[in-house]
Amino acid sequence: MKPLNVGLLGIGTVGGGTFTVLKRNQDEIARRAGRAINIVKVADRDLERARQITGGNIALTDDAFDVVNDPNVDVVVELIGGYTLAKELVLKAIENGKHVVTANKALLAVHGNEIFAAAEKKGVIVAYEAAVAGGIPIIKALREGLSANRIEWIAGIINGTTNFILTEMREKGLDFADVLKEAQRLGYAEADPTFDVEGIDAAHKLTIMAAIGFGMPMQFDKAYTEGISNLQGEDIRYAEELGYGVKLLGISKRTDKGVELRVHPTLIPEKRLIANVNGAMNAVVVKGDAVGPTLYYGAGAGAEPTASAVVADLVDVSRAQLIDAAQRVPMLAFQSSELATLAILPIREINSAYYLRLRALDKPGVLAEVTKVLADRAISIDAMMQKEPADGEDAADIIILTHITIEKNMDAAIAEIEALSAISGKVTRLRMEELGR
Ligand code: HSE
Repeated sequence: MKPLNVGLLGIGTVGGGTFTVLKRNQDEIARRAGRAINIVKVADRDLERARQITGGNIALTDDAFDVVNDPNVDVVVELIGGYTLAKELVLKAIENGKHVVTANKALLAVHGNEIFAAAEKKGVIVAYEAAVAGGIPIIKALREGLSANRIEWIAGIINGTTNFILTEMREKGLDFADVLKEAQRLGYAEADPTFDVEGIDAAHKLTIMAAIGFGMPMQFDKAYTEGISNLQGEDIRYAEELGYGVKLLGISKRTDKGVELRVHPTLIPEKRLIANVNGAMNAVVVKGDAVGPTLYYGAGAGAEPTASAVVADLVDVSRAQLIDAAQRVPMLAFQSSELATLAILPIREINSAYYLRLRALDKPGVLAEVTKVLADRAISIDAMMQKEPADGEDAADIIILTHITIEKNMDAAIAEIEALSAISGKVTRLRMEELGR
């Protein structure tokens, strides 16, 4: 059969990995795909780097439009990232009748609805396994492996940079700023780490998973996003003493009131496998009504792990291109006519259990005042811990774990607690998830 001709946009880390994996495993891949998958053209701003990686036998250009307009290219692999140029190139490739494989989660979370609509109209495929959790085949699992289920919730560690930072904070007892500097020195964190540490990258990936898990359009603009830059080392220590790990989780749940779509630091019981996912690794738990909770673990970034997902998409495209578009696996898991516009709940409407840390004068009656505020709002306490005041201080840290309540109820309780004269400063609040059923 005629080989599948691939045009590569960007031959940096992931592009280089894609080239290497396709070359090293070409026989194995062809045995699976039923034909050869060949990179026939590469666009990159750095032509010298492109030449070194490809060995000089592949057509190179520094104009990405040369690739998307090349009639010899069947599939465009977009690995340049960003929203503007990437969007233009992807839409142009679609217009030219080419299939697209992309690792660009930001592009899909923000412009995915437009891109998938254009692809459907043209009868081409946009494949995006590499956009979420790198090498973990989570898109495949959500879209195909779990298709018997009504998905109830998805929760994932889907940003390796922040998981590395949180792991270092816990293991070395360091603060966020110190670990970030070290992570940047080691190349784990970008010079501008905002997308990672503020939870935006995780929210992009969560948006995509929620869309295909629940059968709804991308709604990134409604995601609640809170990163780890304000997280204190002492809260990680106290959580550990109480039997919890702290992870930056992307959580999406289907409820009777709407869909929760939120990224924030989260306490998880240590006994859960996902609480023990450390370093730069990723993991996603998906709860289906039939299968129960399922866990997917692996490398969420890096050259070859991400290339593993890109190449798997190329194999899928190679097969699916021969099938009538109506019979293919739907790009968003559900038939496009069946996508439901489910309401995304604002954060004040979500339900969660909470970790609270407050600084209270160590004198009789203070704890009673605090617990009365919670009791008046029907917030039930699950556990409590008081730390001895440091030498020469008269205020102690009190840590309270609560049962589930609606967030706006907790907002009001926190405001009342902060107004008590025996409480100094702000109450630290972290959300907790059981992730058991
Ligand atoms: N910056 C991402 C992370 C990797 O730290 O997980 C690419 O999605």
